[in-house]
Amino acid sequence: MASDSTTRTTTRFWKFVRRPAGNEQATESTWSIDSQALTALEAGELLIVTLFVSVDPYLRIQMSTDNTWQAPASENEPQLSYAIGRVIQSTEPDAFPIGCCVRTYSGWTEYAKVNASDVQRIDQSTTDPLPLQHYLGALGMVGRTAWWGVENTLRPKPRETVVVTGAAGAVGSLVVQLCKKRGCRVVAVAGSDDKCRALRDELGADATLNYKCDAIDWNHIDALQAVCPDGIDCFWDNTGGYVSDAVFRLLNVHSRVAICGQISVYDSGLNADSPAMGPRLLYLLIYKRALVQGILQRDATPEVDALHQREAAAWIRDGSLHDRFTIIDGFDNIPTAFNKMMNGQNTGMYAWLVVACFDA
Ligand SMILES: NC(=O)c1ccc[n+]([C@@H]2O[C@H](COP(=O)([O-])OP(=O)(O)OC[C@H]3O[C@@H](n4cnc5c(N)ncnc54)[C@H](OP(=O)(O)O)[C@@H]3O)[C@@H](O)[C@H]2O)c1
Repeated sequence: MASDSTTRTTTRFWKFVRRPAGNEQATESTWSIDSQALTALEAGELLIVTLFVSVDPYLRIQMSTDNTWQAPASENEPQLSYAIGRVIQSTEPDAFPIGCCVRTYSGWTEYAKVNASDVQRIDQSTTDPLPLQHYLGALGMVGRTAWWGVENTLRPKPRETVVVTGAAGAVGSLVVQLCKKRGCRVVAVAGSDDKCRALRDELGADATLNYKCDAIDWNHIDALQAVCPDGIDCFWDNTGGYVSDAVFRLLNVHSRVAICGQISVYDSGLNADSPAMGPRLLYLLIYKRALVQGILQRDATPEVDALHQREAAAWIRDGSLHDRFTIIDGFDNIPTAFNKMMNGQNTGMYAWLVVACFDA
């Protein structure tokens, strides 16, 4: 077994300890720090030191006891999430030498034993290696989500009008740029004037709406109509809520809708017992022959994955794709980072929070 000079016998990790009740946000006390022994590696295992973890909204969905795409997270278990780590011990030194970096699903832990078959090595042997955090961003799960939904569901054509909610976030900011690159007119919806300004000035959105200031709902469609004079051909929904109701009223014939997320209901336990009632929208789809599709990044095909990796890497390198991050330092701050992300307090204009645990 290959090993660097570091001998590690224990690791600290964040454990999910208290399930938020319906209508409750996660708080600092949703998790607590624990520690555990690191036993010797078995064949096929690697020991990594965590460099970055991502904090993503789906972690809040997993706390809900309602059925989603998998069983709810169990209390008193380690908090899992995507992470980037550096290999410090390896039983597979040919494929994973000491010092190489990998993307894992090892979560909020300082060190982790992982199976080599469960991780992806990050190739940094090129002359122009990209900063590691991109492998949690445009080159990671959120990028895969954007490419998959755009290619498979939205299928935007040049000059079509695309509306994106949650547009300043990790997925949304990529969808905005991807649709601009496909020649569309993009209307971006976000929760602050600063985010809207950055979406226009830095990401090229044609128009923006601040959903916290502009009245946009089923009964108030004027502001949306003003920036979508030709109706809406494609709708990427990250948030749900009142804005989505307004968008449905303006959908064009043969429009396409990708339901990527509904963050406006995550803190209410997904509302399964008492779904928000409002104007029923489905009849609109009949007249408009619209396609509405829920999307999950895990369904991405190898063809779309290859396109995603090729385009995202090339565009980050040539500076035409902005993949910005809010990086919060320190293992102890991970829950704070999660809660800031859920409340839209990303200090980057169109970023999501990555927590740097140790020096990269
Ligand atoms: N289907 C999939 O495979 C898949 C994969 C990844 C992510 N997702 C979903 O995609 C969405 C975006 O994820 P992300 O990782 O890119 O997160 P993100 O957008 O970077 O962060 C969440 C943002 O949501 C906004 N928000 C929070 N509460 C809101 C509310 N009540 N109404 C409207 N907006 C609200 C906040 O921005 P503002 O300041 O603009 O309010 C916040 O910054 C989430 O719904 C997530 O669950 C789905």
